[in-house]
Amino acid sequence: MRRLDTLFIGREQHQLPSVNSTNEHALSLLSKSKPPEGTVVSTPNQVAGRGQIGSNWESEAGKNICMSVILYPKFLNAGRQFLLSQAVSLAVFDLLEKYFPGQTKIKWPNDIYINGKKAVGILIQNSVSGAQLRSSVIGIGINVNQEIFRSGAPNPTSFKLESGNEFNTGQLINELCHFLENRYLKLKSGNIVPLQAAYLKHLYRFQIPSFFENGNGAVFKGTITGISEKGQLKIYISGKEKLFGLKEIKFL
Ligand code: BTN
Repeated sequence: MRRLDTLFIGREQHQLPSVNSTNEHALSLLSKSKPPEGTVVSTPNQVAGRGQIGSNWESEAGKNICMSVILYPKFLNAGRQFLLSQAVSLAVFDLLEKYFPGQTKIKWPNDIYINGKKAVGILIQNSVSGAQLRSSVIGIGINVNQEIFRSGAPNPTSFKLESGNEFNTGQLINELCHFLENRYLKLKSGNIVPLQAAYLKHLYRFQIPSFFENGNGAVFKGTITGISEKGQLKIYISGKEKLFGLKEIKFL
């Protein structure tokens, strides 16, 4: 079992036998006290997990990683909060790339794919004070040993499905804490250009002509060319670059 080798992420842990949502639990801790930066809330049995845009997150008891990390990214201007999402995506990418080299991609904005299928969902809930971020709950759901998915979410996969092997979730959590701390400290030190470059390098369908569906259900062909400062997806469509938010586009 790999030991925790971090300075602060995962040094304080709340391991709960079962909880509705680790994000909600972390938010409730924040509303009552000031947990140390890097506090991790995790559970093997999350019974009402929350996903992006009000969706649910399916996780079979005892099979997967459901965790939330509390951070205080006060150094980040609220308008640049997508940088935090990029740093977190890259940290999770680092973990998956270790076990699935050459098969791992970041799907905008922050899903992590193995072989074109979703193995990780990330839900970041920020609170803002004035122009700066005050606190952030980084919720990460990793499908590790689950083999059957029932919720109907599109293209789910897991470590087990992609490799045939069982993985130790405790060890993966320790490793993820290491990668999160590394990427977070680089962001904090202002190392932005390499972070953005790495995000684009590992972005699913970057610079590959692909089909998408817009918010009105119309299908179109375009090419992802980058990400705006606010985190919108830039797509080049018949000679023009257009920006899309999370609810405005679907990958086909
Ligand atoms: C998505 O829809 O892709 C985001 C899913 C995020 C799921 C994780 S599991 C741990 C944390 N607690 C939650 O309730 N959600 C996040």
